[in-house]
Amino acid sequence: MQVTATDRSGDEREDTSARPLLRDAAERAANYLESLATRPVVPSAQALAALVRLDAPLPLHGSDARQTLALLDELVSPATAAMAGPRFFGFVTGGSLPAALAANWLAGAWDQNAAFHSVTPGVSRLEQSALRQLVALFELPAQTAGGLVTGATVANFTALAAARHAVLARVGWNVEADGLFGAPPITVIAGEEVHPSLIKALGMLGIGRARVLRVPSDNQGRMRADELPPIAGPTIVCLQAGNVNSGAFDPFAALIDQAHRDGAWVHVDGAFGLWAKATASLRHLVDRVETADSWAVDAHKWLNVPYDNGLAFVRDAHALKAAMAITAEYLPQAGGDRNPSDFTPEMSRRARGVEVWAALQSLGRAGIAEMIERNCRQARRFATELSAKGYPVLNDVVLNQVLVSFGDAARTRRVVSRLQSGGICWCGITLWQGHTAMRISVSNWSTGDHDIEQSLEAMLRAAASA
Ligand SMILES: Cc1ncc(COP(=O)(O)O)c(C=O)c1O
Repeated sequence: MQVTATDRSGDEREDTSARPLLRDAAERAANYLESLATRPVVPSAQALAALVRLDAPLPLHGSDARQTLALLDELVSPATAAMAGPRFFGFVTGGSLPAALAANWLAGAWDQNAAFHSVTPGVSRLEQSALRQLVALFELPAQTAGGLVTGATVANFTALAAARHAVLARVGWNVEADGLFGAPPITVIAGEEVHPSLIKALGMLGIGRARVLRVPSDNQGRMRADELPPIAGPTIVCLQAGNVNSGAFDPFAALIDQAHRDGAWVHVDGAFGLWAKATASLRHLVDRVETADSWAVDAHKWLNVPYDNGLAFVRDAHALKAAMAITAEYLPQAGGDRNPSDFTPEMSRRARGVEVWAALQSLGRAGIAEMIERNCRQARRFATELSAKGYPVLNDVVLNQVLVSFGDAARTRRVVSRLQSGGICWCGITLWQGHTAMRISVSNWSTGDHDIEQSLEAMLRAAASA
């Protein structure tokens, strides 16, 4: 049967019409997932060349949905990078846990606009449940409020908007009402090695990218506590759990205590590093992180839910709501419930809590810890075996990040380029404290030890031939 958008008048609903299409999509998706372990990580030149078909203009008439799906699969599936697969080590991407992916499909069918509790109570409660479980997992203060957003960039933005509200409210300025023109200046302090997305968030908040006081870091990228400048007036101190290159953590205990003594708000960008808190063997890296005022973390990274999914947590729920909540006559009020959109920049929003909740239930505390500890053990194995072969590892491998040099910059680039085009695994290039390095990030739920062995062989082959 043809399934097109124009098939149906309002009176002729055929509830079964989507079933074959969805079955077909499920088959195609399952085939794709099953191919991930063996297909090249990068698309072939032929697959990329075929994308020229996407240049076609918008057709006048719609086409059959199954044909549209087939075209997508045949044209675009081969042109994807196998980012969801076990040997993509290019960024801290994670894959999609089966439960999270399946939940995402179901949530797509629900198509809830998860803004207002009274209209979408099911997903609203689900989101609350996921947030509560995460607050407990990260051992954040029990009253911590959270917002589910698109990723750590927007989580940083959201939490820093709450920080901006709070530090200005303390000096009698209402930033949401009166903006920043004429406001008392806010001092923002961040490490030299802070992630650029946090600086971008500060720019979007009108605080400015260049006004940030940058504190020198040590050789692992950790902010130096002895270099924290004197703090006076409205101040936000931005710390980091997990440097995007080295995986290093700022020394939270010393910095948070000092910043709080001087009245600053402390924000922690823990896009992937905050997950260390969920383990017994790595939790020391985030010791006292829970004493901060706000935290950003990604679910699409180490929780392995589909893109896009991040979380902003703020100890003072009032500050977060003051920065984010709006109202209008036609919008349902929260009453005693929690309107999800009171805690996020978006009003209309998909129900991101669904995948987060499903991932948490499918792994449980033990499964989350196992995945994170396994990925970190795999990163250490990369480091041990590559350095045993004479390729220096440039960072202390404390988490899931490994930086390897294959000689000078040109040679390292050649090795990485050969590795990438070989298609066995994918690692990126970075510049770490003046040295060009191959950057390995291990964060996928499905990465097994055989994937590490296969990838090590590919790396050593690329290094021998470059
Ligand atoms: C420490 C840190 N913060 C922020 C981000 C930005 O995250 P997203 O791409 O999810 O916005 C990243 C991305 O890798 C990161 O590593």
